[in-house]
Amino acid sequence: MAQRGGKVHMVCRNPQSGQEAKDEIQAAAQTGDVRLHHLDLSVPRDVLRFAREFVLSEPSLDCLVNNAGCMINTREVKVWGGFFFLQKLCC
Ligand SMILES: NC(=O)c1ccc[n+]([C@@H]2O[C@H](COP(=O)([O-])OP(=O)(O)OC[C@H]3O[C@@H](n4cnc5c(N)ncnc54)[C@H](OP(=O)(O)O)[C@@H]3O)[C@@H](O)[C@H]2O)c1
Repeated sequence: MAQRGGKVHMVCRNPQSGQEAKDEIQAAAQTGDVRLHHLDLSVPRDVLRFAREFVLSEPSLDCLVNNAGCMINTREVKVWGGFFFLQKLCC
């Protein structure tokens, strides 16, 4: 998406690995507009705040890639388990 000139918003909880991923994407794409946001998707209050700010600052969201998650054998819910909350709020 960045390579095709799109504006890409990366939403990551770990600032260091997020920055590394962003640098990698920018180096590979050599074009586009890549922005990094820090957000833990398991904290609904923070997701809501991020989504509110996002819809106010961006005219549209054309594509949402929901990659954040994990593969575990046992079900475990900590603060909250709704990763698709962000999609509902931003689209
Ligand atoms: N690998 C497979 O075989 C496979 C098969 C089917 C489906 N999937 C699905 O594909 C997705 C990616 O899998 P993967 O194997 O690439 O997993 P991964 O290497 O563990 O990557 C998951 C990513 O999600 C991020 N993440 C997890 N919880 C988060 C949270 N609360 N807030 C923000 N970010 C969060 C992690 O961030 P951190 O870097 O901060 O930990 C990590 O970057 C998952 O949804 C998984 O269920 C994977």
